[in-house]
Parts: sequence; C-alpha cells; structure tokens
Amino acid sequence: MKCFKLFSQGDHRWLAFGQDRSRPDSITDTVQVVVTAGNNTMLLDPGGIEIFPSMMGALVHEIDMETVRHIFLSHQDPDVGSGLALWRQVAAPGTVIHLAQLWTGYVSHFDAEAKFAPIPDQGGEVQLSGSVRLRLLPAHYLHSPANFCVYDPVARVLFSGDIGAAQLPGEKLRDIWVSNFAEHVQYMSGFHRRFMGSREARDAWIEMVSALAIDVIVPQHGLAFRGPDVRRFLDWFAELPIGSGLEAFGNRAARK
Ligand SMILES: [Fe+2]
Ligand SMILES: [Fe+2]
Repeated sequence: MKCFKLFSQGDHRWLAFGQDRSRPDSITDTVQVVVTAGNNTMLLDPGGIEIFPSMMGALVHEIDMETVRHIFLSHQDPDVGSGLALWRQVAAPGTVIHLAQLWTGYVSHFDAEAKFAPIPDQGGEVQLSGSVRLRLLPAHYLHSPANFCVYDPVARVLFSGDIGAAQLPGEKLRDIWVSNFAEHVQYMSGFHRRFMGSREARDAWIEMVSALAIDVIVPQHGLAFRGPDVRRFLDWFAELPIGSGLEAFGNRAARK
C-alpha cells in the first residue's frame, strides 16, 4: 500500500493510501484518505475488511493511532467501510463514526457497537483542531441516496467519495495525480454513467462545489485532480449524460 501526500502544512496533513500491489484482483481498487490536524485524525472511507491489514500497516508509519478519533463514511458501500469493526479496535476509544443518518441502521450490520454521529441530510461540520473545521457536504444520489463529501477550507481539498472515481489498469497506477485529463476520461465514463443516479443532484452538487476554493479533489477510486484539472473534471461531469438508468434494461427498454 502506497502513501501519497495531498497537502502538508505544519501538523495539518491530507494523505491518500492506495495502489496496493498485494490486493487480490477480485477487489475493486480503492483510495483511503486521512486528514490529521493538531492531535486529531479522521479516516475517510477507510475501506473494507480485505484491505484492512495492508492499510493498517501503511497507516501506522504516518499516524499515531491514538489520535484517530473520527471515522467518516461517505455512504454505505462495503468498499467504503466494511472494515469498521476492525478500525474501531485500533482507533482511540470512543471513536466517532460520521455517517448519513439514513444509513446508520444498515451499516450497523458491519459493526453493531459503532458509535455514530448521524449526519443530517443538509450536512454538518467536524472541528478537527483549533483552525481546521471540516465541512460534511451533501452529495446525495451521487451515487448513494444519502451520500456526503468532505471539504477542508484551509487545505482547499475536497474528498469526493465515488464522484470522480476511475477504474484504471494496473500499469497506469504510478502516481496519485491525473496527468492527462483527456486520456483519463475513458477510465471514469462508464462508472459515472451507470452509478450516478440523478442529473438534478449532479447539477446541484456542481453548483455547490463551484462556489468553494478547491485546489485538490480526491475521489475514493482512481486518481486525484489538482490545479486546472479540478475545473476540467467539474465541466466534464456537468455535460455527462447520466441518470436515466434505462441502458441497463437493454432491449426491454429499447423496445418502448
Ligand atoms: Fe459506492
Ligand atoms: Fe466506492
């Protein structure tokens, strides 16, 4: 499991973990993100049971596990947080799990003892240190019906969950950054067309994040966008035909 620095200023850091060569081919590749500031750390979509050992092995080189007081789950999927019970055993006692109110009863099937801070539909905030206050931004139906992103106005980093996700062949995974946006599109298109369920939600999300100062967008799969690629991604997503779902019905829908 590799570790990439997305932002670093004093004790305030954003790290991305992924591109694990020991990962079984059957498992979708994921990016695990970590924000640390002052004496507090938040794990963002720390991942499933299968990747827990390699993720934990990489994380302890960077973070004192006793500072892990927050875990954020963007939505309910197993690649996001099926390792929750394992993470709670190694994090600080009483670690708070930030998850959509809608999903807490379902995600409890991964870990009935988890202590949730349910996120209301409109979003919320988490004070990580004196100067770092993370914003939990609504991103519903992109793709989950209750789904959130995390924005750090000091680092100007947006964790976008499955928005911006890409599935790349192994030989393309050399760095964490998109280097050629036009070439990268082919690895995002299929996923966004199938998984993103609402054009109206997409448009509202783009309008919301376009008002923020963002230097980096880091999704939960694939590569991160920085500098001009942030706008390139938002413009590409804005124009993508998504959300009818009818293609998945094949000939049955085509006959109508
Ligand atoms: Fe997902
Ligand atoms: Fe995902």
